[in-house]
Amino acid sequence: MIAYLAFNEFIKDLDFELKNKKAISDRLFISPDRQKPLWAQSIWYDVEEIEIASVGDAVKALKARGKWWASYSFVHHRRSELVQEQLPKFKIPPLSFLGKIPDQPMGAWTMIEKNKILVAANTSSPFPLGKIQFSEDKVTPPSRAYLKLWELFTLTGVKPITGSRCLDLGSCPGGWTWVLQQIGTHVISVDKAPLDTKIAKLPNIEYLKKDAFQLKPSDIGPIDYLFSDIICYPPRLLELVEEWRASGLCKNFVCTIKFQGETDWATLEKFKKIPNSRLVHLYHNKHEVTWICLQ
Ligand SMILES: C[S@@+](CC[C@H](N)C(=O)[O-])C[C@H]1O[C@@H](n2cnc3c(N)ncnc32)[C@H](O)[C@@H]1O
Repeated sequence: MIAYLAFNEFIKDLDFELKNKKAISDRLFISPDRQKPLWAQSIWYDVEEIEIASVGDAVKALKARGKWWASYSFVHHRRSELVQEQLPKFKIPPLSFLGKIPDQPMGAWTMIEKNKILVAANTSSPFPLGKIQFSEDKVTPPSRAYLKLWELFTLTGVKPITGSRCLDLGSCPGGWTWVLQQIGTHVISVDKAPLDTKIAKLPNIEYLKKDAFQLKPSDIGPIDYLFSDIICYPPRLLELVEEWRASGLCKNFVCTIKFQGETDWATLEKFKKIPNSRLVHLYHNKHEVTWICLQ
């Protein structure tokens, strides 16, 4: 069995996405099938259901299967706490940008009845229940949007090389432009609104006060990466991406597909079908998905 824990805000989306499943709680589903949902914060593999006679029994069962455990508690909170308190304590320091990802496996468990726990020593993330915490820069970046690129570059290895030419569409106030500049790329930063003044002053940033949808690929010329964090309807972003793909002037794309109201599943399917591409819901994504296309 595999268990899928939804992001708190996106339970409905995970429920919609998962097939052949049973709800264990409002947030946790189990299924015999290995699926790749976008809206799971944490996936628990080879889940065991274990009968326990006491708190000590649960501790023993968990310790026998792994060292570090994160608890998801939806009932029997105090009893779950008593178990968790007796398990080895872990202290994961906040992750630094491009820093080392913890390499120890992180287990996950939950108490489903007073005398029954669900346990998985192997989960999809080395972070407890998939929660990624960066050691944030609270001074320079003008918005918290930079955390999406920090996560992408640190955890997935997707990252333009130094000297790349990157287009950043919908760049204001400049969090993404700042990250791209910091890793040594040349950034063409486009928005109808101005960049934060301290970002605009940095070297290797060319700011264009333009509507990204009016900009033609030929106005910009060849680029290594197109980044977009524009707030717009998904079909509009798809049109823009198709125009750039057809131009042959850009091969790599990282775009946030944002939803207003309901998730636009039909457009997500169209993005998904673009060759060499994938969709991820980053821990730092809100009601949006990151589409990555690399050649
Ligand atoms: C979520 S913010 C981007 C945040 C940015 N990535 C950062 O790290 O600071 C979305 C931006 O899209 C811009 N935007 C919306 N429509 C646009 C358009 N047609 N052309 C250019 N920018 C647009 C908005 O002005 C807004 O600054």
